[in-house]
Amino acid sequence: MVTIYIEGEPYRVKTGQNLLQACLGLGFDLPYFCWHPALGSVGACRQCAVKQFRDENDTRGEIVMACMTPADEGVRISIQDPEAAQFRASVLEWLMINHPHDCPVCDEGGECHLQDMTVMTGHNYRECRFPKRTHRNQDLGPFLNHEMNRCIQCYRCVRFYHDYAGGTDLNVLASHHHVYFGRSGTGPLESEFSGNLVEVCPTGVFTDKRFKSHFTRKWDLQCAPSVCVHCGLGCNTLPGERYGELRRIRNRYHHQVNGYFLCDRGRYGYEFVNSARRIRQPLRRSPGEAAAPPLTEREVRDLAAEFLTEPDRLIGIGSPRASLESNFALRALVGADRFHAGVSASDFSCLATGIGILREGPAPAATLQGIGLADAALVLGEDVTQTAPLVALNLRRMRYRKSARIGSDFRLPEWNDAGVRELAQLQVPELFMATPVPTRLDDEAKRTYYAPPADLAALGVAVARALDPDGAPGTDSGESPAFHAMVQETAEALLAAAHPLIVTGSGCGSTALMEAAANVAWALRRRGRPAELALCVPECNSLGLGLMGAGALAGAFQAVREGRADTLVILENDLYQRADAATVDDLLRAARHVIVIDHLETETSAKADLVLPAATFAEADGTLVNNEGRAQRTYAVMPAEGQVRAAWRWLRLLTRAADQGAERSWERLEDLRADLANQLPVFAPLVRLAPRIEVPTANGRLPRQSHRYTGRTSMGAHLHVSEPKPPADADAPLAFSMEGFDGPAPAPLISRFWAPGWNSVQALNKFQMEIGGPLRGGDPGCRLIEPAASDSGRYFPAPESATQLSEGEVLLIPIHHIFGSDPLSMLSPGVSQRAPSPYLALAPEAAPGAEGETVRLEVDGHALTLRVRLIPGIPPGTAGLPAGLRGLPVLALPAVGRISLKKREEERPI
Ligand code: SF4
Ligand code: SF4
Ligand code: FES
Repeated sequence: MVTIYIEGEPYRVKTGQNLLQACLGLGFDLPYFCWHPALGSVGACRQCAVKQFRDENDTRGEIVMACMTPADEGVRISIQDPEAAQFRASVLEWLMINHPHDCPVCDEGGECHLQDMTVMTGHNYRECRFPKRTHRNQDLGPFLNHEMNRCIQCYRCVRFYHDYAGGTDLNVLASHHHVYFGRSGTGPLESEFSGNLVEVCPTGVFTDKRFKSHFTRKWDLQCAPSVCVHCGLGCNTLPGERYGELRRIRNRYHHQVNGYFLCDRGRYGYEFVNSARRIRQPLRRSPGEAAAPPLTEREVRDLAAEFLTEPDRLIGIGSPRASLESNFALRALVGADRFHAGVSASDFSCLATGIGILREGPAPAATLQGIGLADAALVLGEDVTQTAPLVALNLRRMRYRKSARIGSDFRLPEWNDAGVRELAQLQVPELFMATPVPTRLDDEAKRTYYAPPADLAALGVAVARALDPDGAPGTDSGESPAFHAMVQETAEALLAAAHPLIVTGSGCGSTALMEAAANVAWALRRRGRPAELALCVPECNSLGLGLMGAGALAGAFQAVREGRADTLVILENDLYQRADAATVDDLLRAARHVIVIDHLETETSAKADLVLPAATFAEADGTLVNNEGRAQRTYAVMPAEGQVRAAWRWLRLLTRAADQGAERSWERLEDLRADLANQLPVFAPLVRLAPRIEVPTANGRLPRQSHRYTGRTSMGAHLHVSEPKPPADADAPLAFSMEGFDGPAPAPLISRFWAPGWNSVQALNKFQMEIGGPLRGGDPGCRLIEPAASDSGRYFPAPESATQLSEGEVLLIPIHHIFGSDPLSMLSPGVSQRAPSPYLALAPEAAPGAEGETVRLEVDGHALTLRVRLIPGIPPGTAGLPAGLRGLPVLALPAVGRISLKKREEERPI
């Protein structure tokens, strides 16, 4: 800590900050534009000027930029100094010279950093009477709107998009006062993180195009803390609702998880909540009847009593996209032995392996923040940009951090972005990418290696053996020079690192890969270099479901096939996405009764006898466990309408109807959680997860609506002349109201970042313990798994040899797509526009000149006709098939297939 003096008063601040960080952290209001807590300082906008004094006798001082001046011991500054204040007002005036002043029609209005800073600096009147320069805007695709006239040339957009996120298609163009931030031509922004520009740009140049299609002002959004449901990382989000429609998703800062950013799937994938495919009423479906009649609750109860007469003939199929609470309610209904995980066979075995590794060691799970701190990393088998995008974003920080470490020897502070980046140009991070196909992160890698999953597992085993030749299993012989070079360099870099990291996951459907990754971590631990391990799992509650100890889906199929069970209760799941269609058809045909509880109509719900409308994450509270084992609560943003209700409430009704659970009569979610924590010790910490309902409610619950929420008394006037009472919420310490407790919300319950004078996302500064640090009161959530403390772990045995291919066969490996592989987000128009059409990826050497031609693929009894996409780097003997893409059958990949190229009616094998 050091002491600095502001307006003559001493303050203790953390060493290594700049003056802007220090002032903001102390709660002072000091305007800024180009500085961003994650992007650092470049001193471009000149807005953060303060007066610095040599010592207590210096009365003249000099103007300095706070963001470029270290907060060293004894530094003396004044924010209020009239000359500094005048300087800031003048800067703002000239930044605004060409600004269109179109706040009333600007989507940013009311949450605009430029508006806030204009008020803060006291710039009230425009005196410049010359014509403003104008720009043409670009069509940047489905996610972002472009209005360049509002630009104040702070350069934050390119610094995030290009420098931080590695995007190459947005840049600063032209010169002089025609400087332009855009693409060289119109077209969708290519980066998977483009949506962050909405929050990074301090004015309304980049705004949310999907939000524009159902726009409402920030203060009219009802918000609640939530968690992203589109991959397994558990990024924290702030969804906003108006008139029963989910309008947008914004980032909710979490120091250890997502920090300041989201990926575009997480930001734009929410529109399934508003989908016309939502199930809104309980339905009875009978064979041969065209329309399913909606049911009353009484009728549902009667039907349930009829269907659930024999508890020991029930099967429950849980879901990795449903909350812990709903999965547990299903488990309680059917019994632990008859509760099955509704995931594919390969996801099931990968999950079991992953949980075993996280529990037994050899390494703690890495947080996203921890990933950004790694100084050497091996990515084994996972295309993280597509399956776990924020992992990729954080791995991209390795180059910067490497330069910052070198810079620290020359007293170059890490926040000095321009200086560190100058150094970074020459640095290549110790990032080693071993994947089945080339990935978008390869441009950051020191070395890449492309091979089928089994060969990648062999590579992992070899790295472990290079680190621990006496202990780790495997052989030293028989691989290519490229393999040996990769093994040697990776092992050396990991061993030399202070924070080594291994990243793997279930993306390749290979447990051998995950075991090989664990071996590398074990070997490092035995060499006294404890590593962290990042395991990527596919869905938002994959790990939570795995920790519940559910059986494999195959067990459910078998029980019904053998006549041991005949009634299925399927929770938030489309089984046609989990297994091949013929097997699921057989299951649904063989079952006497099928009850589906879901929020969307799916192929599975279409074949159910009884369909019950479940609430989405936006309408129900729950708990999700992310890939590192962190349990995090989500809160309903809006009340469930009509007969829609949380899945666990339907399951409670079924349990009561089946008359088998007087002791399971949970009235509130808290009761259910207590039962869950009691019955399954791994979930014991859940009861401590959130502030109890009573804590923040001395003066009422925390309002989900802002204190400026408009039109409340009239928004339901077409239905009621009087204003109805807000809906009650028995499960959360939050109210669907603008009234309630108006003190600071505990961190897990923050529904919006706002402070007087700070209407933009930058208000977050007021909620952190220090700038860029944890939220006041601690970040939300708690980890449920930590590795065993002992060193008694073991290596996994070396994997068996790779798949042997016969003449004419290829190994099909899954290629994941951030836009396309997740069925929920594909119901968002923006996301589906960005998804590719089905294709088959081949190496150019395997099919020279075949780009765009048609091939016939035979695999697992399917015959598919696909367009060829040539991707350099695809290993010999393999081809890539998009995973989970619409229009393709669900296949267990990797799989062996046969390809023949169809060219002008003739067919020839590849
Ligand atoms: S577009 Fe926005 S972020 Fe980019 S320079 Fe202009 S004002 Fe700054
Ligand atoms: S990285 Fe995953 S959890 Fe985070 S925003 Fe993207 S899809 Fe959601
Ligand atoms: S914030 Fe300091 S110069 Fe821009």
